[in-house]
Amino acid sequence: MTTAEAYVEFARREAHGVSPTYERLSDAVAHDDDLLALLDALPPAKRQPNLLFGVVRWLGGPVDDPGAFHDYTLTHWPAIEAQMRARATQTNEAGRCAVLLPVLAALPQPLALLEVGASAGLCLYPDRYAYRYGEHRIGSGEPVLECAASGFVPPERVPQVVWRAGLDLNPLDVTDADAVSWLDALIWPEHAHRRARLRAAAAVAAADPPLLIRGDLVDDLPALAARAPAGATLVIFHTSVLYQVPVARREAFVRLVRELPGHWIANEAPEVLPYDGLPDSPDAALHNVLALDGKPLAWARGHGQALTWFA
Ligand SMILES: C[S@@+](CC[C@H](N)C(=O)[O-])C[C@H]1O[C@@H](n2cnc3c(N)ncnc32)[C@H](O)[C@@H]1O
Repeated sequence: MTTAEAYVEFARREAHGVSPTYERLSDAVAHDDDLLALLDALPPAKRQPNLLFGVVRWLGGPVDDPGAFHDYTLTHWPAIEAQMRARATQTNEAGRCAVLLPVLAALPQPLALLEVGASAGLCLYPDRYAYRYGEHRIGSGEPVLECAASGFVPPERVPQVVWRAGLDLNPLDVTDADAVSWLDALIWPEHAHRRARLRAAAAVAAADPPLLIRGDLVDDLPALAARAPAGATLVIFHTSVLYQVPVARREAFVRLVRELPGHWIANEAPEVLPYDGLPDSPDAALHNVLALDGKPLAWARGHGQALTWFA
């Protein structure tokens, strides 16, 4: 796929109906030869819309007017390029806990949670957040994670978590203002509710920071899993991570996680982690597949805003 095609695809498949600002901007970049030439000088993994737009937002540049974005990006390219090379898209969405919760709550308690691709670890606190599945409310405090649920009865209570640990190539520190401001810049412009959710979830995590280990989800997983306490159900999970992992490494990860003790929860796009015989997804929007121990259970919207059970 060319860079222009990738930006058209992002506009159509990811931003359409979710962020009019990014849909317009991504379309404009796809037809902007100046910007495409700059992007094409970067390594392929660094050309993505979310990274470019996040860096420009983080630097204080305009993203709501494609003309102003063009001028700003050309003028400030050295700074933008340096940040694009240094940073990665590590969007950490606590809302995805609303998707994990029904599976976590149904496992033997208490739980030892191990998240691969944890970013800042905000998905390691499913027991500390509150949830609203339609009229059904669980837990208390902030943030309240709203999820349109269909095909399942939401759990009565949050799980009991006695250990939480994360593994990431580049773990982010929730107590570091720079890291949180980068996570904020990665949230799409119109999504004020997600920005508020990030602040609330970061406050929860900063009050009791998780064990986050810098490492690879294949090479360093067995050693971290071995640190989980006896007497708790080990749950290795990942949400929206494997698209960043080369295919051969994804396959190595799946082989490895199947051999480790405990349970495995995956929440990934079906193109990235395929399953046989999936039903049609509920609509044309992008969905992840929620799966337990390799068995697909439900369609989940990307930020945890909807969960449609089919198992
Ligand atoms: C899009 S973020 C998702 C973060 C979090 N799972 C969530 O759902 O909010 C993907 C994360 O996976 C991490 N990652 C990518 N490849 C990895 C690998 N081979 N080993 C460990 N972490 C990896 C990235 O650094 C990034 O923090």
